[in-house]
This record gives sequence, structure tokens and C-alpha cells, in this order.
Amino acid sequence: MTPPPRRFLPYGRQQIGDDDVAAVAQVLRGDALTTGPKVADFEQALSHATGASHVVACSSGTAALHLAAMALDLGPGDKAVVPALTFLATANVVRLTGAELVFADVDPATGLMGAQELSTALARDGSGQVKAVFPVHYAGQCAAPDKLAAAAGDLPVVADSCHALGTAYGSGGRVGDCRHAIMETFSFHPVKIIAAGEGGVVITNDGELAQRLRRLRNHGMTRDTDSFIRDDLACDGKGEPNPWYYEMVELGLNCRLSDIHCALGLSQLGKLDTFCAVRRALVARYDEKLVPLAPLVRPLSRVADCDPAWHLYVVRIDFAVLGMERAAVMARLKEAGIGTQVHYLPLHMQPYYRDRYGEMSLPGAEVFYQQALSLPLFPDMTEEEVEYVVATLGEITGAAT
Ligand SMILES: Cc1ncc(COP(=O)(O)O)c(C=O)c1O
Repeated sequence: MTPPPRRFLPYGRQQIGDDDVAAVAQVLRGDALTTGPKVADFEQALSHATGASHVVACSSGTAALHLAAMALDLGPGDKAVVPALTFLATANVVRLTGAELVFADVDPATGLMGAQELSTALARDGSGQVKAVFPVHYAGQCAAPDKLAAAAGDLPVVADSCHALGTAYGSGGRVGDCRHAIMETFSFHPVKIIAAGEGGVVITNDGELAQRLRRLRNHGMTRDTDSFIRDDLACDGKGEPNPWYYEMVELGLNCRLSDIHCALGLSQLGKLDTFCAVRRALVARYDEKLVPLAPLVRPLSRVADCDPAWHLYVVRIDFAVLGMERAAVMARLKEAGIGTQVHYLPLHMQPYYRDRYGEMSLPGAEVFYQQALSLPLFPDMTEEEVEYVVATLGEITGAAT
């Protein structure tokens, strides 16, 4: 029997160093806990890391998607295409604007909506009401962004890149560069590639859109004297701008990210290359060790021309052939100190969406869901721990014998 690990292995977690703690402590000892200089510093560093011109930090990856949907003026009468295999947030933000969803199927080997699945979804809908497309870089891989953009045609593409900070694609492409999307979003939830506690960003190369996103992030208000509408209120008797004045010109929210979070995010961003390298090395180890467990247990199929940063390590297990339920495998793994999770129950199967749109069949997403299991993957995991996970999975499933 394989010896138990020294610690419980969750499917994902942050790695926080003394430098991160010091960066946060410095903000806590300073004057500005929010709307201070760390926000701009973090935004600038992410602009550098992704190659995109404008970065708008906000309170979560969900808030980032919500701001993007609002900035596209999605609303009642509109629709947006979202892959069925994603986290709730990608679709929910569309509904929050009043627009409806068109769920696209995914490739059952990768979990990704590619150009073909997008075209099929657009043709199936056929309403002419689709106003945006939200592809998702599941687990860190991305389906060819240029082909997705071509399949989207004139429709704006908002890439939900929450899993894929650090992923490279094509020749010289970086997820977040917004070459093939009007906006991209990232999340800094602790299981993601870098952690800020909570946090997210919307990224764009469109300056006007960035300005709009900043305004929506802050209650729809502006302090830009040049854009004031109510001159009678904005200025004093001498025509000088009133120093206290601000104007609300549209409906917005407080989606700001604090300096405390930005300091942590900035410190973590400095380690992005190291985190990605470690994740890639652990994934290579998993791939190698899992070979004898095929075909019962298989890694995700790999996308051509993509060097993923790997947010998740997902295997596909044929539980029907195994004759064991997934919950039983998960329970046995948990007893052995190994945490796992399922990413994701397809959205069209969620009660809310099934009630709204009725039963529908998206076989790629359904097959993927039946087989998916996310194994532990996080930056301070060791290769020995990867070997332990695979050996334990082999014992439980009997796949290696
Ligand atoms: C694909 C995807 N989109 C959006 C989100 C939302 O990000 P956050 O948790 O930062 O709101 C997540 C988070 O798990 C996600 O996995």
C-alpha cells in the first residue's frame, strides 16, 4: 500500500510567501486601503504581462464578466452564446443584464467550445438576437482564438480567461492580449493561477471601452470635468469646477478592488512565470504517470498551438466501464488525503437554466461531465505528491493492473 501523504491535497490552492505578506502589510500600514496607488500599479503590471493596453481591476472574476456584459449594453431582447461547460458566472452575468443565453456544446475531449461548436450554436439559435459570444478557456487551454473570432463574425467576443493567465497560443499570442476578443476577463480567486483573495480584471485594447468599464465599476459616476453635463451644478459662480462635484451618467455598481487585494495580486504576479512553470512540470508528471491507467483514465486531449498555464488538472474516467460511481471514487480518494472536484455540471442542466430554457441535449458537455474529475494541482505540490495521487487512483480504480 502506498504510504499516506504528509498533508491533505486539495484540488487547488494558493501559494503565499513572506513577500506577499509583506506587500499586504505595507498597504495596511499606509494611508490608502482602497482607490490608492496599488490599483494602478496592479493594472499596469497586468497590462505588461498580457500585452493589452487597458486593464480595469474589479472585485472578482464575476464582476469582471458583469462589467463586460454591461459595457456591451446587453439587455432584454438580446442573447449571448456561452459554452455549457463553464462556471455559473459566465452565464449568470448575461442574465443579470436581462439578456438570454444560447448554450453551445463543447468538445468532449477538451471541454472547449471551438469555432465549430460556436457556429453550430449560432445556427441552432437562428434568432438574429445574439449580440455577444463568451468563449471560456477551460482548465487553461484555449481553442484557437482566431478561428473563434472568425466564427463569431461581427459579434463581439468576450473571452472568459479566468482559468488561463499565462497561457500562450499560436505564434506569439498570449491569453489576455485581446488580439481576438474585444475584452478578456481574469479571476484571482485563491485556486486560480495567481491569488488576490478575491479579485478580477477586465482587459481591452479599446480606450473608450476601458473608460466606460471604469465608470461602471464606480457607480456609473465621473469626475471628468470635460464630460460634465450639468454645467449649472458642476461650476461655481465664476465658472470654476466645484471641487466636490461628480456626476452619475449611467447605472453602475461598486465593483472596485481594494489596494489590499491589489498589493497581493501584484506581488503574486511577479511570480507568474514560476507558478506557470511549476504547473506545467506537475502536469507533465501527471501525464507521464497516467499512461498505464489508459484507457480507463485519460488526461484532457491537448489543443494544438496552445501552451496552457493549467489552472486545473482534469482527467476523464469511464465510470460506467469502471463499474464504480464517481462519488465513491472521490470518497476513497478523500480518505487517502486527496481532494477532488467536478468542473462542471453543464449549465443547461442547472435547475435555473433548465426551468428557463427547457430540457436540451448538448452531448459533448454531458459526456464530458459524466467523466470529469479534477485532481490536485497547485504551485507548492511536489512531483512525489503527483505520483502518490496517480498511484492511489490506480489502486482504487484497478486501472493500473
Ligand atoms: C470560468 C470562470 N469564470 C468566472 C469565474 C468567476 O470568478 P470569481 O470567482 O473570481 O468571481 C470563475 C471562478 O471560478 C471561473 O472558473
